[in-house]
Parts: sequence; structure tokens; C-alpha cells
Amino acid sequence: MKNIIITGGAGFIGSHVVRLFVNKYPDYHIINVDKLTYAGNLANLKDIENKPNYTFVKADICDFETIMGIFKKYNVDGVIHLAAESHVDRSIKDPFTFAQTNVMGTLSMLQAAKLTWENLPEKWEGKRFYHISTDEVYGALEMTNPEGIKPPFTTKASSGKHHLAYGSKFFTEDLKYMPHSPYSASKASSDHFVRAFHDTYGMPTIVTNCSNNYGPYQFPEKLIPLFINNIRHRKPLPVYGKGENVRDWLYVEDHARAIDLIFHKGTIAETYNIGGFNEWKNIDIIKVVINTVDRLLGRKEGEDMNLITYVTDRAGHDMRYAIDSTKLQRELGWEPSLQFEEGIEKTVKWYLENQAWMDNITSGEYEKYYEEMYKNR
Ligand code: NAD
Ligand code: TYD
Repeated sequence: MKNIIITGGAGFIGSHVVRLFVNKYPDYHIINVDKLTYAGNLANLKDIENKPNYTFVKADICDFETIMGIFKKYNVDGVIHLAAESHVDRSIKDPFTFAQTNVMGTLSMLQAAKLTWENLPEKWEGKRFYHISTDEVYGALEMTNPEGIKPPFTTKASSGKHHLAYGSKFFTEDLKYMPHSPYSASKASSDHFVRAFHDTYGMPTIVTNCSNNYGPYQFPEKLIPLFINNIRHRKPLPVYGKGENVRDWLYVEDHARAIDLIFHKGTIAETYNIGGFNEWKNIDIIKVVINTVDRLLGRKEGEDMNLITYVTDRAGHDMRYAIDSTKLQRELGWEPSLQFEEGIEKTVKWYLENQAWMDNITSGEYEKYYEEMYKNR
């Protein structure tokens, strides 16, 4: 029996990771540690909440004493650490919360793992602290190919699963960190602490940096679910700046599969970038989403294009993210399973079929937050 803490398991990516581990590994005990902030939602885990190998613990990762207690009580062998504040726009308004949760919270998890594991007779043997991070720590890439070209990949990703490249450079694992937003600065800092715990104490750590995720259960402050919901209600679609910024999109279940693979087969102290060579300009993705929602709602395809509303750009808006995941593909044989068009179709369908999930979130407090956010744009 392996006892594994997954932090942030009630959030978007965490809920997919918890579901995958609980279903795939009946002999593991998965302990989901989540504070249930605005972004945490136990409805994301309804289908597995009664499984015998699953336990939910409501706790703040910053509360060191409580986290120590969880390590003691459950005899923890491994940690997959996802809990974080995750939205760039919120970090611009409230950087303190990001430093607190992402930096101090990660430190509290690391210190609890260290104090527990180093006192065991077997010490670090069989233990693992896996930290989930973002490609945003690398900063922004230049847009040297504004029209987008098919890059000459020599890896497995060249099997036709890539989209266009909007520049000749990609994020590789050896790049210097150059975070720009308070969110990415806080994630960068937490990554450094994780590596410091390996280098200083010998803790068996792994860090991965993934590109933008999309799919079911994403909180509708992020581009894709927000826009799906706004199109459904025929509300304006606030496009920051000119909509030319480029993001590299990965279906969330492909990220969860990569996490499973790396947790079990990844090399200690290594970093792996996770991404599917799938760069899109925001405006192009928005058009795909509008067409898909319209079609699935039985509207005329494209009739909601007039909802596109260009608004003031995000402060410090990173131009382009693009992950090079060659190392992960070569060393561990991972590759994304879905073409983007298939992923978007599945995603839009899911949100339209799960309107109650969306309506629960977008009523009340969130509605007020959303109005406030866009009041001045
Ligand atoms: P999310 O905002 O949907 O979920 C975060 C979860 O963490 C929520 O359940 C929340 O309740 C919990 N949480 C927040 N503060 C906590 C605290 N103090 N104690 C305990 N739990 C707390 O985030 P997400 O999009 O699922 O991202 C998960 C992780 O993956 C984050 O570390 C993020 O940086 C990283 N990541 C996200 C993306 C993306 O595109 N969403 C891409 C790469 C990496
Ligand atoms: P987001 O989903 O917030 O992820 P991130 O900032 O981590 O990449 O945003 C994705 C892109 O979409 C980003 O370039 C900002 C842009 N965007 C908009 O144009 N309008 C919006 O309302 C939102 C939320 C994002």
C-alpha cells in the first residue's frame, strides 16, 4: 500500500490526477489535501468520492502543524503537489496571496515531508516529492513567425500532432527562469525551494513545467471555460489587447497521464517540460470555440463572432509560450493523445452538458468578482 498525498485535488488539474490515481491504482491510498478556496470544488470528484482508497482532508498547505499531522497519520510515501493560486489576473490584483500559498505553502509541504522522512529508518528510500509547475516561469518567447510555420520537428511530436510555431525558440528545461507576473514569480520561487530541498537535504524531488491546460472542470476565470459560458449566455468575450498572444494548449487528461508516468518512472532531481507542440493565437482559438459552441447549441456556426470585444491588455502580458517536450517524449515515451480540434470538441460538449456545474460556480460571489474584474476594461 502506498499512501500518496495529492494537494489541490479539488481543483481543475488536481481532480483529474486524483481520479486517474484512485481508479488506476486500487492498492494506493490517495489523500486529497485541499483548502477548498474559490477554485476548489468537491463536485469535481463526485464519481470517486466513495471509493475505499480515497480520503479527502480539508486543510491549508500553509498550516504547517496540520500538514505535519497528516504526514504522521497517513504514513505518507509520496506527494504530488498541485495546490496553488493559479490565475495570472488575480495575481496582478493580489500578489500577497500568491506568495503565501505558492511559496510558503510549498515550503510547508517540503518541510513536513523532510521532517517526517529523514527520521524514518529507511530515510528517503521509496519516497518522492513531485512538484507541479508551469511553463510561465521561463518568461515569454518572441514571436518571430507571426504567420505561424510548421516547425521541422525530429521528435515523435512530428507525427502530425503539432500545430504551428510562432517563433523559432521553445522553452527547454535548461532555460533560465525569467518570470514576469506575480503568479509566475511565485511559482518560480516554489520551484527553487523544491530543488533546494534536493540539493541541501537529498530529498527525492521532481519538478515538471507544463503548458496551458484545457478540459472539463476548469474554473471559468480561465479563457476557454469563461468564453464557452459567455457564448452560451451571449455575453461579451473580453479579448485582451489584439488577441495575438500565443499559448500552447494541452488537454488536461494528457497532463494527468504525464504526471502518472513521471511520478513512477521519472528520474529524481530532474525537470521535465510537458506540452503537445500546440501553439495557438488567442483570437484563433476563440474563433474555434465560438464555432464549436454555436454548432453544438444548434445556432448558425459563427453567428456569435460579434461577441468578440477587444479590451485593455493585461499588464505585462506574456507574448508567447511554447514548450519543447522532447525530453519527456524521448526518455519516457509520453505523447499527447488528442488533436486539439478533438479536445476542444470534447471540452465544449462537457461544459454544455454540465450546465449545473457551471451555474453553481457562476452565481453569487463569482458573478460579483467577474463584474468587478471587467468594469474598468
Ligand atoms: P486551480 O486553481 O483550478 O486549483 C487549485 C486548487 O488548489 C484548488 O482546489 C484550491 O482549493 C487548492 N488550494 C489553493 N490554495 C490552497 C491552500 N493554501 N491549501 C490547500 N489547497 C489550496 O488550479 P489548476 O489550474 O488545477 O492548477 C493546478 C497546479 O498546476 C498549480 O500548481 C498550477 O500552477 C499548475 N499548472 C496549471 C496550469 C493550467 O493551465 N491550469 C498549467 C501548468 C501548471
Ligand atoms: P488564461 O486562461 O488566463 O491563462 P494564462 O494567462 O495562464 O495563459 O489566459 C489565456 C490567454 O487568454 C492569455 O493570453 C490571456 C488571454 N485572455 C483573454 O484575452 N481574455 C480573458 O478574459 C482571459 C481570461 C484570458
